[in-house]
Amino acid sequence: MVKKIIIYFMLSTLFLPLTSIADEGMWLPILLKKREADMQKNGMKITTQDIYNVNNSSLKDAVMMFGRGCTGEFISNEGLLITNHHCGYSNIVAQSTVERDYLTNGFWAYNKGEELPCAGLTITLLAYMEDVTSKVLEGVNNKLSEKERSLIIDKNIKTICEAATKDNHYKAEIKPFYYGNQYFLYVNEVFTDIRLVGAPPSNIGKFGGDTDNWMWPRHTGDFSMFRVYANKDNKPSKYSKDNIPYTPKKFLKINGKGVSEGDFTFVFGYPGTTQQFLTSHAVNQIAKNENPARIKLRSARLDVYNNAMNESPAQRLRYASGVAGIANGWKKWIGETKGINRLDVVSKKQEFERKFEIWSNVTEQRKEEYSGIISSFEKTYSEIAPLEMSYLYLNEAVLASDFMKNTKDVLSMIKRATKNNYTKQTSQKEADLLLEKLEKYFNNDYDKHNIVDRTIFIQTMKIFYEDFANKKYNWIKERIDFNFKSSPEAYFSYVYDNSFLSSKKKAEKALKKFKVEKSLSDPAVELLSALWGDVIEKDMPRLTELESRIDSLYRVYVKGQMEMESAKEFYPDANLTLRVAYGNVKPYKPKDGVSYKSYTTIEGIMEKENPDIYDYVVVPKLKELYNKKDYGRYTNEKGEMPVAFIASNHTTGGNSGSPVMDANGNLVGINFDRCWEGTMSDIAYDLDQCRNISLDIRYCLFIIEKLAGANNLIKEMSIIE
Ligand code: ARG
Ligand code: ASP
Repeated sequence: MVKKIIIYFMLSTLFLPLTSIADEGMWLPILLKKREADMQKNGMKITTQDIYNVNNSSLKDAVMMFGRGCTGEFISNEGLLITNHHCGYSNIVAQSTVERDYLTNGFWAYNKGEELPCAGLTITLLAYMEDVTSKVLEGVNNKLSEKERSLIIDKNIKTICEAATKDNHYKAEIKPFYYGNQYFLYVNEVFTDIRLVGAPPSNIGKFGGDTDNWMWPRHTGDFSMFRVYANKDNKPSKYSKDNIPYTPKKFLKINGKGVSEGDFTFVFGYPGTTQQFLTSHAVNQIAKNENPARIKLRSARLDVYNNAMNESPAQRLRYASGVAGIANGWKKWIGETKGINRLDVVSKKQEFERKFEIWSNVTEQRKEEYSGIISSFEKTYSEIAPLEMSYLYLNEAVLASDFMKNTKDVLSMIKRATKNNYTKQTSQKEADLLLEKLEKYFNNDYDKHNIVDRTIFIQTMKIFYEDFANKKYNWIKERIDFNFKSSPEAYFSYVYDNSFLSSKKKAEKALKKFKVEKSLSDPAVELLSALWGDVIEKDMPRLTELESRIDSLYRVYVKGQMEMESAKEFYPDANLTLRVAYGNVKPYKPKDGVSYKSYTTIEGIMEKENPDIYDYVVVPKLKELYNKKDYGRYTNEKGEMPVAFIASNHTTGGNSGSPVMDANGNLVGINFDRCWEGTMSDIAYDLDQCRNISLDIRYCLFIIEKLAGANNLIKEMSIIE
């Protein structure tokens, strides 16, 4: 008996949480009460009711999903919102031309009449959320197959959403948490008349560009402003000049004094994806195979685009938005891989998995539910890994060029025609439509783009072939070996140059009198069609099947972890739902012998200035203000002009634009990035190295007032001195 107790005691200490939770966590606003004591202990002066409350207006009413992957917040009672420059980027680009280049020069509306409607942009406001787990799982039991289970769940979800949106203008969705151990209903209001109000010049909004991206110390003035318009009843409405500024239930007041080292802060927003529960097998695959392949392919593409962008302003505008996205992922994966290796996440996960196995074999009930799960993961992942690589190569290499994307359109058209037995006329109708699209593409400065796109196609396909395809697809190897003297470059050049998709003239000839048979022998269509057969038709169905199997393994595994570590406070992985993260303004040590301060100032902008490097050009007006020290009321207590600060809030992609608030719930910053050394936080959070980067709201106010002279906007805000 005694012996048993001792063993039990030893085992139970083994099962203490991997990390003790402090600063880590993205908490559900509806369950925030549980964190209240800890938040207050860390310095918060308000209550969690002030943050989320469905019966009264609360801070949550000031926070929105901006577009489909960022956050924004109201800062006036006339629907004025602020988010990041990089979040508004594609909208700013869409309003810009070479002659009227708002991206480069900035844009400011000095009255509401000058604001620019942004087609396609949406703002989503949460009305309320609700735990609907028992309703969603009604009728579900352990004896059901995964397929039966998901059929029941889908049906329940449909019923619940229909009930929530009956007789109102709301939109509802239900999201799974903890891999389907819990479900929440989100009822939202979606606004579609959104107008651009202000954006600083690129050399402020994107100062430091991709060179500084994901890095600290940072000096990027990463903000832009929009306004939400509604109909006369303050309800969402499509664009109309009769619409009026939306009156939010709540807008954020601004703390004009800012925060200093050690101060409490919290971030309220829409984090996209984290994967804290991944097993060692998955993390190993990411760090050893997936990230390196992605990084290599994107490096190749970026070289080509960056050269082109340095050639002319027109080319810069053409590629800016796409390249920002490509570069962002590329750099994050480099940091993430380093972080995973440095923290030795794989070994730590393996150790945890061994503990889990011991734990799961202690009682009969556990054995029945959890035993063998780690080896099931291992087995399933070893089958998934190569399939995932083929999917990765399809997206990151095969479909990297416009040439192949256009080829994909042709191939889809052919597949539709064959599958549905199209008549000649129907096929021709589709071909005409496609030709119309392609003509626009070719008319858009194609001669220059042709060189860029051809290089992208050949470079990425070469890597695809050498690193992956030559071992996996015999047919491609044989073709290259026999017909192209083993030179992939020769083969892919041949494909490009001889396809009808490489020039407008050839495309017109092929599509004006479209023949399915003939187009199938086009070298690009032929190549993509063979790959499609292998990847999409053979690998993908199996991958989807295995992924759903993995998800159900995680459902059980995560439930087991919660049982095993019953004292630990768990938070669900980010899934683009509203969350609160909290922490403190905190410096960090990136490496041996180096310490970073927790904030930057305008001095750093001048230190980085370099008129010869695009990313470090300082706007003349900013320099003038700097020389005159004309900072208005926005300096800190030392008289410095602050630009950005870091804190230990746990954030991820999607949190960009999120309000960073102080102990009283007033706005002090806008979240826009994370520090390089901590980018593995989506998989493993490290208190010592993970920091979110925020723009100091005082820098935004300074730019708006002093640089832009947009006092109309400052007047709308409520700044606490
Ligand atoms: N790294 C930030 C986030 O993931 C900002 C990206 C935008 N900036 C850029 N230079 N590409 O999204
Ligand atoms: N920059 C990211 C975003 O756009 C934020 C992050 O990943 O930390 O959401």
